[in-house]
Amino acid sequence: MSKNQLTSKRHYDIHVFCCINERKSDHPRGSCSARGAGELQAYMKVRGKELKLGKRVRINKSGCLDRCELGPVMVIYPEGIWYHYQSREDIDEILEHHVIGGKLVQRLMLQPGQSALTPVEPQRIELQVQKVKESCNDVCRYDLVSSDGQDLPSFTPGAHIDLFTELGLRRSYSLAGDPAVRNCYVLGIRREKPSRGGSEWLLDHLSVGDHVSASLPANNFPLDQQANHHTLIAGGIGITPMIAMGHLLMRERASCHLHFCAPDERSVPFLDEARDIFDDKLTLHFDGGDPTQGIDLPSVLKDPSLNEHVYVCGPPGLVASVRAQASHWPPGSVHWEQFSVAPTAQTKSNEAFSVWLSRQQVRLDVPPDQSILDVVRGAGIEVESSCEDGLCGCCRTRLLGGVPEHRDMVLTDSDKAIGDEMMICISRGKAGETLVLDL
Ligand code: FES
Ligand code: FES
Repeated sequence: MSKNQLTSKRHYDIHVFCCINERKSDHPRGSCSARGAGELQAYMKVRGKELKLGKRVRINKSGCLDRCELGPVMVIYPEGIWYHYQSREDIDEILEHHVIGGKLVQRLMLQPGQSALTPVEPQRIELQVQKVKESCNDVCRYDLVSSDGQDLPSFTPGAHIDLFTELGLRRSYSLAGDPAVRNCYVLGIRREKPSRGGSEWLLDHLSVGDHVSASLPANNFPLDQQANHHTLIAGGIGITPMIAMGHLLMRERASCHLHFCAPDERSVPFLDEARDIFDDKLTLHFDGGDPTQGIDLPSVLKDPSLNEHVYVCGPPGLVASVRAQASHWPPGSVHWEQFSVAPTAQTKSNEAFSVWLSRQQVRLDVPPDQSILDVVRGAGIEVESSCEDGLCGCCRTRLLGGVPEHRDMVLTDSDKAIGDEMMICISRGKAGETLVLDL
């Protein structure tokens, strides 16, 4: 029998059809490809090979399966079970549990006639305050452990968690501990002036033994592991993510240097920790309250060495100065995170535009005096947010069509050029634009 005859007689037990249909980027229903179906289907094939499923399972590409708002979607025969999926972890679970184990993955299943995805409850963790210590005059260091004594979810340097107050507020804090220490999160909480209520409540109400709810760690400010040299620039409380970075960089003997800027020694949080970790790779810059007397950015950032990356975290003025002084650095080599917006920040004028919510099949008008987030919530749709200033990434939403005007501080220039995500608390559309959102 020839090889072709053998192939044509091959009988598969399981057929998987993954929609990889493409549509124009402004199509109101969106498409599976616009939500990353091509890359995920390719990953599924690779995993299928690794798991040696080839003789039994055929993983096919398919065109539109008419469940576009719920996609990416796949259907698995012979049972005819529909799944939506968004990540490699979802694919792994479908392969492991359904295809290999024969058990349905309930959380990803689509029901007949379903027209919108069931909202997923965001995961929360319960933390307990183990230690509180004054770090400098307006910052306290908090050591938080899990309420049940178990290891906490892992994190990478630059990550943050959000704490939830009893007042219904949500505030983001960088993780300032060693990522290798799995049973404790270290945070620095600064009394904000003026306070919007969150940090003040936490500082006044969180004592040793108290419990607090938190989000899982997320990272908008990761280290680039390929860099040859890391220049870290911290201003005040902006030291917190640098502490976590320092633990990893020192352990890996990576080339790095920390510039730590503050008005004076009394205003420096986490100074002991920074000295212990960075040792002779630390330069302190005290400006006595006059930024012109502080770090000499033109000389620090003059000539980047080969594959050098710079990371800045701190007050808006410092972040803006570093970005301006490093504007000649190669694309992607300047990373920043800031905790507040400049009080004098020029606000661009707002125009009226529309959003099409692809999963809900709803068009909403966004007037100049409201954000997308306001309008979406006004329509009764739950969306998570925290800073509502374009700083934390909490309201990050997939963009399936239209041209946004990005106003956030989370997305990098290359993220913005790719154009498949936006922060709906602050970014907008131009007059008359329709933005298609994956909501
Ligand atoms: S584009 Fe995938 S189901 Fe229509
Ligand atoms: S809520 Fe923080 S970026 Fe939108």
